[in-house]
Amino acid sequence: MDTKLRGFVLSVYIVFGLPVITAHNDPSNKIMEDFSGYPIHEPQSQDSLLSLSVDSEGLQKQIDELSTLSETPAPSVTRILYSEKDVLARRFIKNLMGLSGLSVREDAVGNIFGRWDGDEPELAPVSTGSHIDAIPYSGKYDGVIGVLGAIEAINVLKRSGFKPKRSLEVIMFTSEEPTRFGISCLGSRLLAGSKELAELLKKTVDSQNISFFDAARFAGYANHLQDLTSVFLEKGSYSAFIELHIEQGPILEEEATSIGVVTAIAAPASIKVDFEGSGGHAGAVLMPMSRNDAGLAAAELALAVEKFVLESGSIDTVGTVGILELHPGAINSIPSKSHLEIDTRDIDEKRRNVVIEKIHQSALSISENRGVKLSEFKIVNQDPPALSDDLITMAMESACQELNLTFRKMISRAYHDSLFMARISPMGMIFIPCYKGYSHKPEEFAAIEDIANGVRVLALTLAKLSLA
Ligand code: GLV
Ligand code: MN
Ligand code: MN
Repeated sequence: MDTKLRGFVLSVYIVFGLPVITAHNDPSNKIMEDFSGYPIHEPQSQDSLLSLSVDSEGLQKQIDELSTLSETPAPSVTRILYSEKDVLARRFIKNLMGLSGLSVREDAVGNIFGRWDGDEPELAPVSTGSHIDAIPYSGKYDGVIGVLGAIEAINVLKRSGFKPKRSLEVIMFTSEEPTRFGISCLGSRLLAGSKELAELLKKTVDSQNISFFDAARFAGYANHLQDLTSVFLEKGSYSAFIELHIEQGPILEEEATSIGVVTAIAAPASIKVDFEGSGGHAGAVLMPMSRNDAGLAAAELALAVEKFVLESGSIDTVGTVGILELHPGAINSIPSKSHLEIDTRDIDEKRRNVVIEKIHQSALSISENRGVKLSEFKIVNQDPPALSDDLITMAMESACQELNLTFRKMISRAYHDSLFMARISPMGMIFIPCYKGYSHKPEEFAAIEDIANGVRVLALTLAKLSLA
């Protein structure tokens, strides 16, 4: 451990428990208390001099509070981009950032940044963050612990008396989930400078035909603006980016390991397919006649996706048909249109691309054999994998060692905003265990002790990187 950092860790132990947070005297506290219905408080327990002091009770309350800002009933959480609940949730996050003494800014699509100026603010800051949008009927931890946990990591450092050299910045990314506009990691993709996306969004609408820009304006963003290039950040804007996240897989829990140090993020792709047939009366059009059933074309393609993925022979190749819609959707009508959305991923980009090509060929031959039109085959995104930065993973590993936490290296099979932050900054991810690896469903759960461990590793890693 370098001397300055050792001094910091020692000072954590020495000033531990002293009321260092100036935000407590801030009148905006009242707003937060009014908004959340519970008081902001210093951590009650001072049980260990060997750990950074995470306010676990406060953090759990914030997680629970945020989960109530949902479009579906508990225990499920649904928070769709730019919805009323999303706007309230954003206000909740900005309040917390303010209470932590961070200076808050938002960009044109609602990526939210909270900065703690370091002693050398001209140096590229160290950043951390995740997302708070939630797919329909999901849980309350995915993304959320990487935002609330990041703010708490800042609080931990402030309480400890740490003074950053490089500024530290918490980022809440807009729409990591593709739910509303079919585009995953929308905010971080734009931050990383995707010109294609900036163009595409000019003509993107949701399933209700609401344009991206109208939706953004409802939430108070993109006012008088069609040009989203203002969101782009230069490569090198950050010296490091770290994301804290639940594992969304079972390994850490099964092995009783506290921390996963992510070495790479799998390469995701998504595809939209439309078939068009003739439709007709379910009783009157006889089976031997050519039914041109667009629904059966979709069913055949869905099974083909499974076959191609299994043919890869690797456990790392996955494929899912998560959306399958039939038109007109009447029991007594042969489907005249079908719509599929296919998600396929692999840690090996070439192998994933082979699967995509097989899916395409299969869609073409199904269309020919069944006499239906393949009216759309659109690869929405075909992203390469991302590798973590060695210096960041080393910093995370030594943080685990110093905090006496077990850890292991692992890959991320889910995608994250980190996949895109890696395009403009060295990147690393910290995983914590979650119950049975459940995610994207209401049963998702992470124990507060595990979350607190993740926050401590994050805080110490941020501190190390801030002094680097
Ligand atoms: C992110 O939520 C993913 O689908 O991996
Ligand atoms: Mn997710
Ligand atoms: Mn996530």
